[in-house]
Amino acid sequence: MKKVGIVGWRGMVGSVLMDRFKIEGDHKKFKSYLFSTSLKGEKAPDIENTHETVLDSESLEELSEMDFIITCQGGDYTKAIHPKLRNAGWKGIWIDAASAKRMDEEAIIVLDPLNRDQIEKGLNSGIKDFIGGNCTVSLMLMGLSGLFKEGLIEWMSSMTYQAASGAGAKNMLELLDQMQFISNEYDNNKNAAALLVEKEIQAKINSSAFPQNNFGYPLALSLLPWIDTKVESGQSREEWKAQVEANKILGTDKTIPIDGTCVRVGALRCHSQAFTIKLKKSVDIETIESLIREGNEWVEFVENEKETTLSKLTPAHVSGTLKIPVGRVRKMTLGDQFLNAFSIGDQLLWGAAEPLRRTLLMAIE
Ligand code: HSE
Repeated sequence: MKKVGIVGWRGMVGSVLMDRFKIEGDHKKFKSYLFSTSLKGEKAPDIENTHETVLDSESLEELSEMDFIITCQGGDYTKAIHPKLRNAGWKGIWIDAASAKRMDEEAIIVLDPLNRDQIEKGLNSGIKDFIGGNCTVSLMLMGLSGLFKEGLIEWMSSMTYQAASGAGAKNMLELLDQMQFISNEYDNNKNAAALLVEKEIQAKINSSAFPQNNFGYPLALSLLPWIDTKVESGQSREEWKAQVEANKILGTDKTIPIDGTCVRVGALRCHSQAFTIKLKKSVDIETIESLIREGNEWVEFVENEKETTLSKLTPAHVSGTLKIPVGRVRKMTLGDQFLNAFSIGDQLLWGAAEPLRRTLLMAIE
């Protein structure tokens, strides 16, 4: 039985990954070895086919014993451990949620409903590093896979509405702290007129007492139109990733331009995106709808009607599921080749853990 080392299994993406292994009965297919720095040597949780002791995530010797390592530990871990392991001659398969190695020439960004061939070819030709894509990129490709597969997209703009979860567990909790703070303030002003309550709350949101150690700024009742660091083009790094990662996943000969503004909003766990798509040619809306619908089995096509949109095309409907609803699909008044669409996906599932899980299974098989 193949040995799979799992690093970062207690973090947010790691926990979702462990959950998916359990739900799908994957633990039958390999022997798990849990790695951790803080828990090394302790008894491992009682999980089917799992080594009884937690191993040391910094021990090259123990890591080298693995056939596969799947890590959700973050970029610093990858940068510290991966080169040492490879230099020590480890030839196993490294599957990673962090972005550190995504754009390496010898690494494949994995999203098998879109690039299964690329992954299979990579596995067969000796590629050893398989990296999960950025969450918004993976979710965008999942939603629009039917149009990408058909080669219909000339360029597109994606405006994102990214949940607090994308910034990490502490940020998720901070959003809730911010909401609680606001709710307490509302309780203190319960019977005042709306604009007076607003004034009180606004003053508190902008005061130093407002909880914002992680985001640095108020997110609740506001939004933050910048995610990650700045790159030379004036884009944020999150915006820069859209084009480079999507084109790498799709293996395009000619780059499909993709750009937009990435915005953090007060959703807890799902990332949403609004697309403006320039089609290469005029295609009737029925054909477009059926291409989107049939893109992959997780797409849920949402009719462009108010009721269905508000009940099915929301983070509230999607959180904790693998659904990828796509809706607001219509030709734009800009011209017949301009398409509007809106899509949502769970940032921790298809946006992070699920492509890694599926790659591991492909590699084992
Ligand atoms: N960079 C993403 C975010 C996390 O900040 O939402 C998922 O890759």
